[in-house]
Amino acid sequence: MFKYTVYAKHPKGKINREIYGNFSEHIGKGIYEGIYVGEGSDIPNQAGMRTDVVDALKEMKLPVLRWPGGWFADEYHWMDGIGPKESRKRTVNVQWGGVTEDNSFGTHEFLELCEQIGCEPYISANVGSGTVQEMAEWIEYMTFDGDSTMANLRRKNGREKPWKIKYFGIGNESWSGGGYMSADYYADCYRRYRTYCRNYGTNQLYRIACGGGSNGEDCDWTETLMRRASSRMEGLSVHYYAKLDGKRYRNLAAEFSPEEWYATLKQALRIEQVIEAHAASMDKYDPEKRVGMIVDEWGTWFDVEEGTEPLFLYQQNTMRDALVAAVSLNIFNKHCDRVKMANIAQLANVLQAVVLTEGEKMVLTPTYYAFLLYKYHQDSTLLESTIETCEIGQQEHTVVNLHESASVDAEENIHITVCNLSHAQTYEIDTEIVSAELGDIRAEILTGAMNAHNTFEEMDKVGVQTFTDYQMKDGHILLKIPACSVLHLEIRNA
Ligand code: AHR
Repeated sequence: MFKYTVYAKHPKGKINREIYGNFSEHIGKGIYEGIYVGEGSDIPNQAGMRTDVVDALKEMKLPVLRWPGGWFADEYHWMDGIGPKESRKRTVNVQWGGVTEDNSFGTHEFLELCEQIGCEPYISANVGSGTVQEMAEWIEYMTFDGDSTMANLRRKNGREKPWKIKYFGIGNESWSGGGYMSADYYADCYRRYRTYCRNYGTNQLYRIACGGGSNGEDCDWTETLMRRASSRMEGLSVHYYAKLDGKRYRNLAAEFSPEEWYATLKQALRIEQVIEAHAASMDKYDPEKRVGMIVDEWGTWFDVEEGTEPLFLYQQNTMRDALVAAVSLNIFNKHCDRVKMANIAQLANVLQAVVLTEGEKMVLTPTYYAFLLYKYHQDSTLLESTIETCEIGQQEHTVVNLHESASVDAEENIHITVCNLSHAQTYEIDTEIVSAELGDIRAEILTGAMNAHNTFEEMDKVGVQTFTDYQMKDGHILLKIPACSVLHLEIRNA
Protein backbone atom coordinates (compact mmCIF):
# COMPACT_ATOMS: atom_id res chain seq x y z
CA MET A 1 0.00 0.00 0.00
CA PHE A 2 1.49 3.39 -1.02
CA LYS A 3 0.62 6.35 1.14
CA TYR A 4 -0.58 9.49 -0.60
CA THR A 5 -1.16 12.71 1.34
CA VAL A 6 -2.77 15.89 0.07
CA TYR A 7 -2.73 18.94 2.32
CA ALA A 8 -5.98 20.79 1.66
CA LYS A 9 -4.90 23.86 3.60
CA HIS A 10 -1.44 24.21 2.02
CA PRO A 11 -1.94 26.21 -1.19
CA LYS A 12 1.14 26.50 -3.39
CA GLY A 13 0.07 28.95 -6.10
CA LYS A 14 -2.22 29.29 -9.07
CA ILE A 15 -2.07 26.80 -11.94
CA ASN A 16 -2.46 29.02 -15.01
CA ARG A 17 -4.94 27.51 -17.40
CA GLU A 18 -2.50 28.27 -20.23
CA ILE A 19 -0.41 25.31 -19.02
CA TYR A 20 -3.01 23.23 -20.88
CA GLY A 21 -2.27 24.91 -24.21
CA ASN A 22 -1.59 23.49 -27.63
CA PHE A 23 0.35 24.29 -30.78
CA SER A 24 -0.56 24.16 -34.48
CA GLU A 25 1.98 24.50 -37.22
CA HIS A 26 1.74 24.37 -41.00
CA ILE A 27 3.13 20.83 -41.21
CA GLY A 28 1.55 17.99 -43.19
CA LYS A 29 -2.10 17.68 -42.16
CA GLY A 30 -1.61 19.82 -39.05
CA ILE A 31 -3.71 22.72 -40.33
CA TYR A 32 -5.12 21.69 -43.69
CA GLU A 33 -7.56 18.81 -43.19
CA GLY A 34 -6.67 18.53 -39.47
CA ILE A 35 -8.38 21.81 -38.59
CA TYR A 36 -9.24 23.74 -41.71
CA VAL A 37 -11.15 22.20 -44.62
CA GLY A 38 -12.54 25.34 -46.24
CA GLU A 39 -16.12 26.50 -46.40
CA GLY A 40 -16.96 24.47 -49.50
CA SER A 41 -15.94 21.17 -47.93
CA ASP A 42 -18.35 18.24 -47.44
CA ILE A 43 -16.83 17.80 -43.99
CA PRO A 44 -19.09 19.67 -41.56
CA ASN A 45 -17.48 23.01 -40.82
CA GLN A 46 -18.11 26.52 -39.67
CA ALA A 47 -16.27 29.14 -41.71
CA GLY A 48 -13.99 26.35 -42.90
CA MET A 49 -13.08 24.99 -39.42
CA ARG A 50 -13.95 21.34 -38.80
CA THR A 51 -16.86 21.22 -36.40
CA ASP A 52 -15.79 17.86 -34.91
CA VAL A 53 -12.33 19.17 -34.04
CA VAL A 54 -13.59 22.49 -32.68
CA ASP A 55 -16.18 20.68 -30.51
CA ALA A 56 -13.52 18.32 -29.15
CA LEU A 57 -11.24 21.24 -28.28
CA LYS A 58 -14.08 23.08 -26.53
CA GLU A 59 -14.79 19.97 -24.47
CA MET A 60 -11.10 19.81 -23.54
CA LYS A 61 -11.29 23.49 -22.55
CA LEU A 62 -8.31 24.37 -24.74
CA PRO A 63 -7.12 27.68 -23.27
CA VAL A 64 -4.47 28.87 -25.75
CA LEU A 65 -3.22 27.93 -29.21
CA ARG A 66 0.19 28.78 -30.66
CA TRP A 67 0.52 29.40 -34.41
CA PRO A 68 1.93 29.42 -37.18
CA GLY A 69 5.12 27.62 -36.03
CA GLY A 70 7.64 26.30 -35.12
CA TRP A 71 10.20 26.54 -37.82
CA PHE A 72 7.45 27.54 -40.21
CA ALA A 73 7.03 30.80 -38.28
CA ASP A 74 10.44 32.11 -39.28
CA GLU A 75 9.58 31.70 -42.95
CA TYR A 76 6.03 32.97 -42.63
CA HIS A 77 5.13 36.37 -44.04
CA TRP A 78 1.73 37.24 -42.70
CA MET A 79 0.72 39.43 -45.62
CA ASP A 80 0.73 36.30 -47.82
CA GLY A 81 -2.21 35.01 -45.78
CA ILE A 82 -4.72 37.89 -45.93
CA GLY A 83 -7.20 39.14 -48.53
CA PRO A 84 -9.20 37.20 -51.13
CA LYS A 85 -8.11 33.56 -51.04
CA GLU A 86 -7.88 33.20 -54.80
CA SER A 87 -5.24 35.92 -54.97
CA ARG A 88 -3.19 34.89 -51.95
CA LYS A 89 0.43 34.17 -52.67
CA ARG A 90 1.37 30.55 -53.24
CA THR A 91 4.56 29.82 -51.37
CA VAL A 92 6.67 26.73 -50.70
CA ASN A 93 6.71 25.18 -47.25
CA VAL A 94 10.43 24.59 -47.57
CA GLN A 95 10.90 23.27 -44.06
CA TRP A 96 8.11 20.71 -44.02
CA GLY A 97 8.15 18.68 -47.19
CA GLY A 98 8.46 21.39 -49.86
CA VAL A 99 4.70 21.39 -50.45
CA THR A 100 2.77 24.31 -51.88
CA GLU A 101 1.27 26.53 -49.21
CA ASP A 102 -1.74 28.30 -50.64
CA ASN A 103 -2.04 30.52 -47.56
CA SER A 104 -5.79 29.93 -47.34
CA PHE A 105 -5.37 29.63 -43.57
CA GLY A 106 -3.93 32.95 -42.44
CA THR A 107 -4.38 35.52 -39.70
CA HIS A 108 -8.17 35.93 -40.05
CA GLU A 109 -8.72 32.17 -40.16
CA PHE A 110 -6.50 31.50 -37.16
CA LEU A 111 -8.20 34.16 -35.07
CA GLU A 112 -11.63 32.91 -36.21
CA LEU A 113 -10.59 29.43 -35.04
CA CYS A 114 -9.57 30.79 -31.63
CA GLU A 115 -12.91 32.57 -31.34
CA GLN A 116 -14.81 29.39 -32.19
CA ILE A 117 -12.85 27.41 -29.61
CA GLY A 118 -12.92 30.24 -27.06
CA CYS A 119 -9.15 30.17 -26.54
CA GLU A 120 -6.42 32.79 -26.46
CA PRO A 121 -4.32 33.11 -29.62
CA TYR A 122 -0.55 32.93 -29.26
CA ILE A 123 1.15 34.34 -32.34
CA SER A 124 4.68 33.27 -33.07
CA ALA A 125 6.32 35.96 -35.19
CA ASN A 126 9.10 35.82 -37.76
CA VAL A 127 12.53 37.08 -36.71
CA GLY A 128 14.65 34.72 -38.85
CA SER A 129 13.56 36.03 -42.26
CA GLY A 130 11.14 38.82 -41.41
CA THR A 131 11.72 42.49 -40.79
CA VAL A 132 10.97 44.60 -37.75
CA GLN A 133 8.52 46.62 -39.84
CA GLU A 134 6.68 43.47 -40.95
CA MET A 135 6.27 42.34 -37.35
CA ALA A 136 5.23 45.79 -36.14
CA GLU A 137 2.64 46.07 -38.91
CA TRP A 138 1.20 42.66 -38.09
CA ILE A 139 0.49 43.84 -34.56
CA GLU A 140 -0.98 47.09 -35.87
CA TYR A 141 -3.13 45.16 -38.36
CA MET A 142 -4.55 42.90 -35.68
CA THR A 143 -4.93 45.28 -32.75
CA PHE A 144 -5.19 48.95 -33.80
CA ASP A 145 -8.69 50.44 -33.62
CA GLY A 146 -8.00 53.80 -35.25
CA ASP A 147 -7.39 55.08 -38.75
CA SER A 148 -4.23 53.64 -40.28
CA THR A 149 -3.40 51.85 -43.49
CA MET A 150 -2.95 48.54 -41.65
CA ALA A 151 -6.15 48.84 -39.60
CA ASN A 152 -8.09 49.86 -42.71
CA LEU A 153 -6.68 46.91 -44.61
CA ARG A 154 -7.98 44.64 -41.85
CA ARG A 155 -11.41 46.27 -42.20
CA LYS A 156 -11.31 45.84 -45.97
CA ASN A 157 -10.59 42.16 -45.37
CA GLY A 158 -13.75 41.81 -43.30
CA ARG A 159 -12.80 42.49 -39.71
CA GLU A 160 -14.06 45.81 -38.40
CA LYS A 161 -13.01 45.57 -34.75
CA PRO A 162 -9.45 44.75 -33.76
CA TRP A 163 -8.71 41.45 -32.08
CA LYS A 164 -7.28 41.19 -28.60
CA ILE A 165 -3.87 39.61 -28.86
CA LYS A 166 -1.99 38.83 -25.70
CA TYR A 167 0.65 36.17 -26.31
CA PHE A 168 3.25 37.18 -28.85
CA GLY A 169 6.43 35.16 -29.47
CA ILE A 170 9.45 36.88 -30.98
CA GLY A 171 11.30 34.23 -33.00
CA ASN A 172 11.32 30.46 -32.64
CA GLU A 173 14.35 28.26 -32.02
CA SER A 174 16.54 31.14 -33.15
CA TRP A 175 19.55 28.97 -32.26
CA SER A 176 18.62 26.61 -35.14
CA GLY A 177 15.87 26.81 -37.79
CA GLY A 178 15.01 30.34 -36.67
CA GLY A 179 18.30 31.79 -37.91
CA TYR A 180 21.18 29.83 -36.29
CA MET A 181 21.96 32.77 -34.01
CA SER A 182 24.20 32.95 -30.98
CA ALA A 183 22.58 33.83 -27.66
CA ASP A 184 24.15 37.30 -27.69
CA TYR A 185 23.13 38.03 -31.25
CA TYR A 186 19.57 36.87 -30.54
CA ALA A 187 19.44 38.95 -27.34
CA ASP A 188 20.22 42.02 -29.47
CA CYS A 189 17.61 41.01 -32.05
CA TYR A 190 15.06 40.38 -29.32
CA ARG A 191 15.62 43.83 -27.81
CA ARG A 192 15.31 45.44 -31.21
CA TYR A 193 12.19 43.58 -32.39
CA ARG A 194 10.56 43.82 -29.02
CA THR A 195 10.91 47.62 -29.00
CA TYR A 196 8.45 47.85 -31.87
CA CYS A 197 5.90 45.41 -30.48
CA ARG A 198 3.49 48.17 -29.48
CA ASN A 199 0.43 48.07 -27.28
CA TYR A 200 -2.46 49.74 -29.11
CA GLY A 201 -5.44 50.99 -27.11
CA THR A 202 -6.13 48.61 -24.26
CA ASN A 203 -4.35 45.67 -25.91
CA GLN A 204 -1.47 44.45 -23.75
CA LEU A 205 1.06 42.15 -25.32
CA TYR A 206 2.77 39.44 -23.31
CA ARG A 207 6.07 39.22 -25.18
CA ILE A 208 7.83 35.89 -25.23
CA ALA A 209 11.51 35.57 -26.05
CA CYS A 210 12.89 32.46 -27.69
CA GLY A 211 14.59 29.97 -25.38
CA GLY A 212 17.79 27.96 -25.77
CA GLY A 213 18.63 24.86 -27.77
CA SER A 214 19.73 21.24 -27.51
CA ASN A 215 16.35 19.97 -26.40
CA GLY A 216 16.08 22.14 -23.34
CA GLU A 217 19.69 21.73 -22.24
CA ASP A 218 21.07 25.17 -23.06
CA CYS A 219 20.91 27.11 -19.82
CA ASP A 220 23.69 29.45 -21.03
CA TRP A 221 21.22 30.84 -23.55
CA THR A 222 18.63 31.35 -20.80
CA GLU A 223 21.26 33.02 -18.63
CA THR A 224 22.30 35.37 -21.47
CA LEU A 225 18.71 36.27 -22.33
CA MET A 226 17.79 36.87 -18.71
CA ARG A 227 20.88 38.99 -18.08
CA ARG A 228 20.52 41.05 -21.23
CA ALA A 229 16.79 41.33 -21.77
CA SER A 230 14.67 40.05 -18.87
CA SER A 231 13.40 43.54 -18.02
CA ARG A 232 11.95 43.69 -21.54
CA MET A 233 10.11 40.37 -21.64
CA GLU A 234 7.10 38.79 -20.00
CA GLY A 235 7.97 35.22 -20.97
CA LEU A 236 10.91 33.09 -22.06
CA SER A 237 10.35 29.85 -23.90
CA VAL A 238 11.76 26.35 -23.39
CA HIS A 239 11.29 23.40 -25.77
CA TYR A 240 11.58 19.80 -24.71
CA TYR A 241 10.76 16.61 -26.61
CA ALA A 242 10.78 13.06 -25.24
CA LYS A 243 12.70 11.18 -27.92
CA LEU A 244 14.28 7.74 -27.87
CA ASP A 245 17.83 7.03 -28.91
CA GLY A 246 17.28 6.20 -32.59
CA LYS A 247 20.47 4.13 -32.78
CA ARG A 248 19.31 1.82 -30.04
CA TYR A 249 15.55 1.71 -30.53
CA ARG A 250 13.14 1.51 -33.43
CA ASN A 251 11.30 4.53 -32.10
CA LEU A 252 7.85 3.54 -33.34
CA ALA A 253 4.81 5.24 -31.86
CA ALA A 254 2.54 2.21 -31.48
CA GLU A 255 4.87 -0.79 -31.56
CA PHE A 256 7.27 -0.92 -28.66
CA SER A 257 8.59 -3.11 -25.89
CA PRO A 258 8.29 -2.59 -22.12
CA GLU A 259 11.91 -1.40 -22.21
CA GLU A 260 10.96 1.31 -24.73
CA TRP A 261 7.92 2.17 -22.59
CA TYR A 262 10.19 2.91 -19.61
CA ALA A 263 12.87 4.61 -21.72
CA THR A 264 10.23 7.03 -23.06
CA LEU A 265 8.71 7.72 -19.65
CA LYS A 266 12.16 8.37 -18.24
CA GLN A 267 12.80 10.88 -21.02
CA ALA A 268 9.45 12.50 -20.30
CA LEU A 269 10.15 12.81 -16.57
CA ARG A 270 13.47 14.48 -17.35
CA ILE A 271 11.50 17.61 -18.27
CA GLU A 272 11.42 18.33 -14.54
CA GLN A 273 15.21 18.64 -14.39
CA VAL A 274 15.15 20.84 -17.48
CA ILE A 275 12.54 23.11 -15.90
CA GLU A 276 14.47 23.30 -12.63
CA ALA A 277 17.75 24.09 -14.38
CA HIS A 278 16.19 26.91 -16.42
CA ALA A 279 14.26 28.15 -13.40
CA ALA A 280 17.54 28.43 -11.46
CA SER A 281 19.03 30.59 -14.25
CA MET A 282 15.88 32.71 -14.33
CA ASP A 283 15.82 33.09 -10.54
CA LYS A 284 19.22 34.81 -10.60
CA TYR A 285 17.84 37.74 -12.58
CA ASP A 286 14.19 37.53 -11.66
CA PRO A 287 13.80 36.27 -8.08
CA GLU A 288 10.22 37.62 -7.97
CA LYS A 289 9.35 35.24 -10.83
CA ARG A 290 7.81 37.98 -12.95
CA VAL A 291 9.01 36.39 -16.20
CA GLY A 292 7.03 33.28 -17.08
CA MET A 293 8.66 30.09 -18.31
CA ILE A 294 6.73 29.19 -21.45
CA VAL A 295 7.19 25.55 -22.45
CA ASP A 296 5.77 26.23 -25.87
CA GLU A 297 6.77 22.92 -27.45
CA TRP A 298 6.81 19.59 -25.65
CA GLY A 299 5.72 16.00 -26.17
CA THR A 300 6.81 12.75 -27.78
CA TRP A 301 8.66 12.53 -31.07
CA PHE A 302 8.58 9.12 -32.77
CA ASP A 303 9.26 8.00 -36.32
CA VAL A 304 6.44 8.75 -38.72
CA GLU A 305 3.90 6.05 -39.57
CA GLU A 306 4.91 3.80 -42.41
CA GLY A 307 3.94 5.13 -45.81
CA THR A 308 3.60 8.74 -44.65
CA GLU A 309 5.81 11.64 -45.71
CA PRO A 310 8.74 11.83 -43.24
CA LEU A 311 8.50 15.61 -42.91
CA PHE A 312 4.78 15.56 -42.11
CA LEU A 313 5.60 14.15 -38.65
CA TYR A 314 2.47 12.00 -38.48
CA GLN A 315 2.58 9.49 -35.61
CA GLN A 316 0.08 7.28 -33.79
CA ASN A 317 -0.67 7.92 -30.16
CA THR A 318 -1.01 5.28 -27.43
CA MET A 319 -1.40 4.94 -23.68
CA ARG A 320 2.35 5.66 -23.53
CA ASP A 321 1.64 9.13 -24.94
CA ALA A 322 -1.17 9.57 -22.42
CA LEU A 323 1.26 8.80 -19.59
CA VAL A 324 3.85 11.20 -21.05
CA ALA A 325 1.19 13.90 -21.18
CA ALA A 326 -0.06 13.18 -17.68
CA VAL A 327 3.32 13.17 -15.93
CA SER A 328 4.35 16.31 -17.83
CA LEU A 329 1.16 18.09 -16.78
CA ASN A 330 1.73 17.01 -13.16
CA ILE A 331 5.23 18.50 -13.40
CA PHE A 332 3.98 21.77 -14.91
CA ASN A 333 1.35 21.99 -12.15
CA LYS A 334 4.01 21.49 -9.50
CA HIS A 335 6.17 24.22 -11.06
CA CYS A 336 3.33 26.68 -11.58
CA ASP A 337 5.27 29.35 -9.70
CA ARG A 338 7.47 29.68 -12.82
CA VAL A 339 5.76 27.73 -15.64
CA LYS A 340 3.00 30.01 -16.90
CA MET A 341 2.16 28.34 -20.19
CA ALA A 342 2.86 25.08 -21.99
CA ASN A 343 1.87 24.04 -25.52
CA ILE A 344 1.97 20.40 -26.45
CA ALA A 345 3.21 19.72 -29.98
CA GLN A 346 0.87 19.50 -31.77
CA LEU A 347 -2.89 19.72 -32.08
CA ALA A 348 -3.84 17.61 -35.13
CA ASN A 349 -1.95 14.94 -37.10
CA VAL A 350 1.52 16.10 -36.08
CA LEU A 351 3.74 14.59 -33.33
CA GLN A 352 1.83 14.03 -30.06
CA ALA A 353 -1.52 15.06 -31.45
CA VAL A 354 -4.76 15.28 -29.51
CA VAL A 355 -6.77 14.53 -32.65
CA LEU A 356 -6.03 12.50 -35.78
CA THR A 357 -8.06 12.91 -38.93
CA GLU A 358 -8.56 10.98 -42.14
CA GLY A 359 -10.95 12.73 -44.50
CA GLU A 360 -14.22 13.17 -42.64
CA LYS A 361 -13.15 10.84 -39.79
CA MET A 362 -11.62 12.11 -36.56
CA VAL A 363 -10.24 10.09 -33.66
CA LEU A 364 -9.51 11.40 -30.21
CA THR A 365 -6.15 10.11 -28.98
CA PRO A 366 -5.19 8.86 -25.51
CA THR A 367 -3.35 12.18 -25.13
CA TYR A 368 -6.66 13.98 -25.71
CA TYR A 369 -8.25 11.97 -22.92
CA ALA A 370 -5.38 12.77 -20.54
CA PHE A 371 -6.06 16.47 -21.15
CA LEU A 372 -9.75 15.84 -20.56
CA LEU A 373 -9.01 14.34 -17.14
CA TYR A 374 -6.65 17.18 -16.21
CA LYS A 375 -8.79 20.12 -17.31
CA TYR A 376 -10.07 20.60 -13.77
CA HIS A 377 -6.64 21.86 -12.69
CA GLN A 378 -7.00 24.89 -14.97
CA ASP A 379 -6.93 28.09 -12.88
CA SER A 380 -7.12 26.00 -9.69
CA THR A 381 -4.74 26.33 -6.77
CA LEU A 382 -1.94 23.79 -6.48
CA LEU A 383 -1.98 21.90 -3.17
CA GLU A 384 1.01 20.49 -1.38
CA SER A 385 1.04 16.71 -1.77
CA THR A 386 3.40 13.77 -1.30
CA ILE A 387 3.22 10.19 -2.47
CA GLU A 388 5.28 7.15 -1.51
CA THR A 389 6.80 5.50 -4.56
CA CYS A 390 9.17 2.75 -5.58
CA GLU A 391 11.47 2.50 -8.57
CA ILE A 392 10.38 0.34 -11.48
CA GLY A 393 11.67 -0.14 -15.01
CA GLN A 394 13.88 -2.12 -17.31
CA GLN A 395 17.62 -1.92 -17.98
CA GLU A 396 18.82 1.52 -16.86
CA HIS A 397 15.40 3.04 -17.52
CA THR A 398 14.01 3.34 -14.03
CA VAL A 399 11.11 5.60 -13.14
CA VAL A 400 8.82 6.08 -10.17
CA ASN A 401 5.79 3.81 -10.14
CA LEU A 402 3.33 6.57 -9.16
CA HIS A 403 3.18 10.24 -10.07
CA GLU A 404 0.63 12.86 -9.05
CA SER A 405 -0.49 16.43 -8.53
CA ALA A 406 -3.43 17.93 -6.65
CA SER A 407 -5.32 21.20 -6.71
CA VAL A 408 -8.39 22.90 -5.32
CA ASP A 409 -10.79 24.75 -7.60
CA ALA A 410 -12.81 27.93 -7.03
CA GLU A 411 -15.74 25.90 -5.58
CA GLU A 412 -13.30 24.24 -3.16
CA ASN A 413 -13.54 20.85 -4.83
CA ILE A 414 -10.24 18.99 -4.70
CA HIS A 415 -8.84 17.38 -7.85
CA ILE A 416 -6.14 14.78 -7.75
CA THR A 417 -4.54 13.23 -10.80
CA VAL A 418 -2.48 10.09 -10.24
CA CYS A 419 -0.59 8.03 -12.82
CA ASN A 420 0.53 4.44 -12.63
CA LEU A 421 3.67 4.20 -14.76
CA SER A 422 4.00 0.42 -14.54
CA HIS A 423 3.20 -1.42 -17.75
CA ALA A 424 2.00 -4.45 -15.80
CA GLN A 425 1.45 -3.90 -12.10
CA THR A 426 -1.57 -2.66 -10.15
CA TYR A 427 -0.87 -0.63 -6.98
CA GLU A 428 -2.91 0.08 -3.90
CA ILE A 429 -2.91 3.65 -2.63
CA ASP A 430 -4.02 4.93 0.75
CA THR A 431 -5.07 8.54 0.13
CA GLU A 432 -5.45 11.01 2.95
CA ILE A 433 -6.73 14.52 2.38
CA VAL A 434 -5.50 16.41 5.42
CA SER A 435 -7.71 19.19 6.83
CA ALA A 436 -10.66 18.63 4.56
CA GLU A 437 -14.12 17.24 5.07
CA LEU A 438 -14.68 14.79 2.27
CA GLY A 439 -17.85 15.18 0.28
CA ASP A 440 -18.96 13.07 -2.68
CA ILE A 441 -16.29 11.57 -4.87
CA ARG A 442 -16.33 11.40 -8.64
CA ALA A 443 -13.62 9.21 -10.14
CA GLU A 444 -12.67 8.61 -13.76
CA ILE A 445 -9.83 6.70 -15.34
CA LEU A 446 -7.98 6.31 -18.61
CA THR A 447 -6.40 2.89 -18.84
CA GLY A 448 -5.47 0.16 -21.30
CA ALA A 449 -2.60 -1.95 -22.54
CA MET A 450 0.60 0.04 -22.92
CA ASN A 451 0.24 0.36 -26.68
CA ALA A 452 -3.56 0.64 -26.79
CA HIS A 453 -4.70 3.31 -29.21
CA ASN A 454 -7.62 4.47 -31.27
CA THR A 455 -7.73 4.00 -35.02
CA PHE A 456 -10.09 5.08 -37.79
CA GLU A 457 -11.44 1.53 -37.79
CA GLU A 458 -11.69 1.24 -34.00
CA MET A 459 -12.24 4.73 -32.68
CA ASP A 460 -13.20 4.00 -29.08
CA LYS A 461 -10.69 1.44 -27.91
CA VAL A 462 -9.22 3.90 -25.40
CA GLY A 463 -11.30 6.45 -23.53
CA VAL A 464 -12.30 7.74 -20.14
CA GLN A 465 -14.32 5.39 -17.93
CA THR A 466 -15.93 5.72 -14.55
CA PHE A 467 -13.60 4.38 -11.85
CA THR A 468 -15.11 2.40 -9.00
CA ASP A 469 -12.19 0.49 -7.51
CA TYR A 470 -11.97 2.54 -4.31
CA GLN A 471 -13.50 2.56 -0.86
CA MET A 472 -13.63 4.94 2.09
CA LYS A 473 -12.08 3.77 5.34
CA ASP A 474 -11.52 5.92 8.45
CA GLY A 475 -11.65 9.08 6.35
CA HIS A 476 -9.06 7.74 3.86
CA ILE A 477 -9.67 6.81 0.22
CA LEU A 478 -8.24 3.36 -0.49
CA LEU A 479 -7.87 2.75 -4.19
CA LYS A 480 -6.39 0.26 -6.59
CA ILE A 481 -4.88 1.87 -9.65
CA PRO A 482 -4.37 -0.51 -12.58
CA ALA A 483 -1.21 -0.62 -14.72
CA CYS A 484 -0.80 2.01 -17.46
CA SER A 485 -3.38 4.40 -16.19
CA VAL A 486 -4.24 7.99 -15.46
CA LEU A 487 -6.79 8.61 -12.74
CA HIS A 488 -8.73 11.74 -11.81
CA LEU A 489 -10.54 12.01 -8.50
CA GLU A 490 -12.79 14.92 -7.74
CA ILE A 491 -13.52 15.22 -4.03
CA ARG A 492 -16.45 17.55 -3.70
CA ASN A 493 -16.54 20.19 -1.04
CA ALA A 494 -18.66 18.71 1.78
O1 AHR B 1 7.17 20.85 -33.59
C1 AHR B 1 7.97 20.56 -34.71
C2 AHR B 1 9.24 21.39 -34.75
O2 AHR B 1 10.05 21.12 -33.63
C3 AHR B 1 9.04 22.89 -34.68
O3 AHR B 1 8.77 23.44 -35.92
C4 AHR B 1 10.37 23.36 -34.17
O4 AHR B 1 10.26 24.56 -33.44
C5 AHR B 1 10.86 22.22 -33.32
O5 AHR B 1 12.18 21.91 -33.56
